[in-house]
Parts: sequence; C-alpha cells; structure tokens
Amino acid sequence: MNTEETLSGKTALVTGAARGIGRACALRLAQAGADVAVLDIDLTSYNEFEAESASMTSDSTVGEIRALGRRSVGVQVDLTSAESTRKAVEAVAGELGPIDIGVCIAGGGKGGFAETAASVVEMSTFHEVVERNLMATVHTCQALVASMSPVPGGRIITMSSLFGRKAEPDGGYAHYGASKAAIIMYSRYLARELGPRGITVNCLAPGYIHTGRLANAFAAEGSDELLSTVPLGRFGTAADCAGVVGFLSSEAAAYVTGTVIPIDGGVSA
Ligand SMILES: NC(=O)c1ccc[n+]([C@@H]2O[C@H](COP(=O)([O-])OP(=O)(O)OC[C@H]3O[C@@H](n4cnc5c(N)ncnc54)[C@H](O)[C@@H]3O)[C@@H](O)[C@H]2O)c1
Repeated sequence: MNTEETLSGKTALVTGAARGIGRACALRLAQAGADVAVLDIDLTSYNEFEAESASMTSDSTVGEIRALGRRSVGVQVDLTSAESTRKAVEAVAGELGPIDIGVCIAGGGKGGFAETAASVVEMSTFHEVVERNLMATVHTCQALVASMSPVPGGRIITMSSLFGRKAEPDGGYAHYGASKAAIIMYSRYLARELGPRGITVNCLAPGYIHTGRLANAFAAEGSDELLSTVPLGRFGTAADCAGVVGFLSSEAAAYVTGTVIPIDGGVSA
C-alpha cells in the first residue's frame, strides 16, 4: 500500500463535486485511496466556467477519479428534493457499498449584494438559497446516516462559509449568510446525535476561495481591496479546502467533532 493511501478501503460521497471545491475534495479523497461517488445537479457543470473546464483531465470528475485507479459513480440529482437525494445516496451505497465519508459541498448564493440585504431580499430568492444550501445539506445528511457503515469511524463534513459566521460588512447576501449559519448549528446537533455511533461531524467555513466561478467576481470587485482584508495576503484555493477535508476524513481527526473550521487566510481572526 502506498503510504499516502490512508483511506484505502473507504467509500466516500461528495456533493457538488462536478467542479470547484467539491471536485477538489473528491479528488483529494481518491488520491488518499478512497472510492468516491460524485453527486451533482449537473455532472458537467464545469462547462459553465472556462477556468473550470480548462482544468479538467477527463470528461467528468468521475472519469478523473477512475483514472486514479479508484471506483467511482456519478449521480445527477437535485439535492433540494429529499426523495431524490435519498434515492441517489441509496444507489451509491448499492454500487460502492456502505458509505464511510460524506462530504456535503453543494450550495451557493443568488443575486447581487444590494438586492439581498436583510430588509429587502425577495422571499422567493431567500427560499431558493435556503433550499440550495441548508435543505440540500439536511437531505444529504439524513440520507447518508441511513446508508453509512455501522463500523465506528464514519465522517460527515458540511459546508458553511465565512458569511455564515460573520455578516458581510455592507449587510448584503443575508439569505446566504443565514442559510450557512443554519448549517453550522445543524452540524453541531448532528455531531451530538451521531457521536455515540462513532461518526464525527464537522463544518467548513471558507473565506475567499478562488474557484472558476468566482474568478471574475473577485476581479470585478477589485482583488487588491479584497486581499487587503486577508492576513495571509492571497485568495484561498479549492486545494486549501480539500486539504482540510483530507485531514477531517483521516484517522488523525478521530477525536475532532462538532467543530467549525475557518479556511479563510485569517480574515475572521
Ligand atoms: N468559493 C468560495 O469562495 C466559497 C466560500 C465559502 C463557501 N463556499 C461554499 O462552498 C461550496 C462550493 O463552492 P464553489 O465555489 O466550488 O461553487 P460552484 O458553484 O463552483 O460548485 C457548486 C456545485 O454544486 C452543484 N449544485 C448546486 N446546486 C445543486 C443542487 N441543488 N443539487 C446538486 N448539486 C448542486 C453545482 O452544479 C456545482 O457543480 C458552496 O456550498 C459554497 O457556498 C464557497
């Protein structure tokens, strides 16, 4: 066994893994030896952003995982539906076996900052973003718990954000911040509940991560101004997030549960 392959024999499932942070997490777990299922509403969503499609080495994350010598399945599913999510996770467990590691990355915001301030954000937009982030996470976690290995050592990792811990300075994106804050509390409850089963639950809170999706937004907002708020002086990368997921999935993190881990270069320090 390659000494790097600390997750050999484990089965992982990563949502939102067709591109961006989810894809980096899926590849990181596969590099560590796990078989990895990819769930996404669109398994070719990388096509939306040039930087994402340019970085692909296969026609999907599933192909990239298989090229690493691991088993993989891809399921195209809208995680805002509880029923579809349950079926997708069951299908993965049917094909790859009971799941050891569940990573809930799918999510995202909607709208501009001014129009999503707390006192004015449209209710339909608010509901949509709560569904995409909080409810998709809840659906995935419920389906995962039902399909996880009974052997202690399971891992669930959820995705919040800097803006789930700290309000945007100008008060915009309140719907996103509120839904990401709720994911933190849901994860803590889940950690309490699942501790006796030997399953850890931890939540990520990234800051400014330079994915293909955000490259243009960061440029438009003015990189220098944004970067002046980051003590480490650079944007984060999807690999920075994947490294933390690799750690939380490993034996080294066996006694870490119920935490929220900022991956923000010190913005929230
Ligand atoms: N990039 C950042 O700076 C940053 C910072 C903090 C938190 N986050 C969070 O990290 C996660 C990933 O961010 P990213 O920048 O890689 O985003 P991204 O938009 O590049 O990737 C998100 C993936 O999730 C999928 N997805 C969206 N809605 C879905 C649904 N209903 N069902 C199934 N799949 C769905 C998309 O198709 C896409 O492939 C998101 O939850 C985001 O809120 C990102």
